[in-house]
Amino acid sequence: MRVTVAVPPRPYQAVIEDGLLNRAGALLRDLGVAGGATPANHRSQQAFVITVPQVHRRWGKRLLHALAAAEFNAQVIEMRDGEPHKKLATVEALAEKMLRLGADRDAMIIAFGGGVVGDTAGLLASLYMRGVDLVQIPTTVLAQVDASIGGKNGVNLRGGKNLLGTFHQPRAVLIDPSVLSTLPEREFRAGLYESLKCGVIGSPELFEYLEKVDAKQLRRNREKIEWVIAESVKLKAKVVSSDEREGGLRRVLNFGHTIGHALEAETAYRHFLHGEAVAWGMIAAAHITATTGRIDQSDATRIREAVLNLGPLPKIEVRSRNILRLLLSDKKTRDGVVHFVLPTAIGKVEVANDVPDRVVCEAIDELRRLSQAE
Ligand SMILES: NC(=O)c1ccc[n+]([C@@H]2O[C@H](COP(=O)([O-])OP(=O)(O)OC[C@H]3O[C@@H](n4cnc5c(N)ncnc54)[C@H](O)[C@@H]3O)[C@@H](O)[C@H]2O)c1
Ligand SMILES: [Zn+2]
Repeated sequence: MRVTVAVPPRPYQAVIEDGLLNRAGALLRDLGVAGGATPANHRSQQAFVITVPQVHRRWGKRLLHALAAAEFNAQVIEMRDGEPHKKLATVEALAEKMLRLGADRDAMIIAFGGGVVGDTAGLLASLYMRGVDLVQIPTTVLAQVDASIGGKNGVNLRGGKNLLGTFHQPRAVLIDPSVLSTLPEREFRAGLYESLKCGVIGSPELFEYLEKVDAKQLRRNREKIEWVIAESVKLKAKVVSSDEREGGLRRVLNFGHTIGHALEAETAYRHFLHGEAVAWGMIAAAHITATTGRIDQSDATRIREAVLNLGPLPKIEVRSRNILRLLLSDKKTRDGVVHFVLPTAIGKVEVANDVPDRVVCEAIDELRRLSQAE
């Protein structure tokens, strides 16, 4: 399955296909990335694969083999694993390493890993010699359905996540669901919540599938996994194609994220995986709309049950007052007005900026109740 992401400066393809890693090099030639299909300059095309030890160990050989088969001159540069290493110092260290290895402005960077690698290598690609070509080969569900598409990158500051970054679109995104076989189960499920999010904001068919699925079985069903990823990518591509820089429409992708981010921050990013916090955030958003009467109670219930179906989730032990305070200090909050993306039906959301504090607090209380009942 190929999905076009139609953004400036040029559209690119996201290719989703089981086993694609084995022919990643040929595919890049096919797509016209890096020298195109003409053999001239092939040998000199440098590709720097940025990855983490986990991914390198399990899937590195396969990718390098595929790149060599298409005559790329590929070298691997490892970065340390984990969110704390998504910082500017890592970008600088990687850039120094590239320079030592002889990378010039025609070098290509391949981000091979989860969202941490994608965001760090993405920023590196946008800065190295004022910008070089980037290819995303995401290896987590979250990165495959979300982070690798749309050209956003960034690193963290001590004072907050993703505060330093740019837009730098990849030349191509290569998605191979088969690499998910080595992903820890909790990471796998956490990524699926972002797919469920896509279902709620614009793909009822995807929602209907995920509300009934058994996550353990889905993990083993390659055909279905490929479909779920492709549907999510299509939705994300549609949204970013119409609005590259998050002015208006792209905001819908933040469904579940307003409260999700606050939950992550309040628990110092240790208690929840990102997708899990978003999962609770989606339940809270559905509760908020139901309270204000903008959604059928039955649809709100379906959203809640669909989230819980992909569980279990870590417990909610936060105070609603603290969450409210965090919401008001979020970087996306302007003049004390918190924007919520609220579902109005399955497959439809709207942005609201008039949710009373009391209703937000009630929604957090509801999460606590639910998590105790689980
Ligand atoms: N740029 C965007 O639009 C965007 C969107 C959403 C999230 N993000 C960012 O993505 C990051 C989270 O990404 P993530 O959830 O992928 O986390 P991650 O990159 O930390 O990966 C999670 C863990 O899985 C391991 N891993 C990756 N692929 C594997 C595989 N195939 N087999 C076994 N282990 C594997 C990694 O080594 C890591 O330990 C956050 O920093 C978030 O801010 C960015
Ligand atoms: Zn997210």
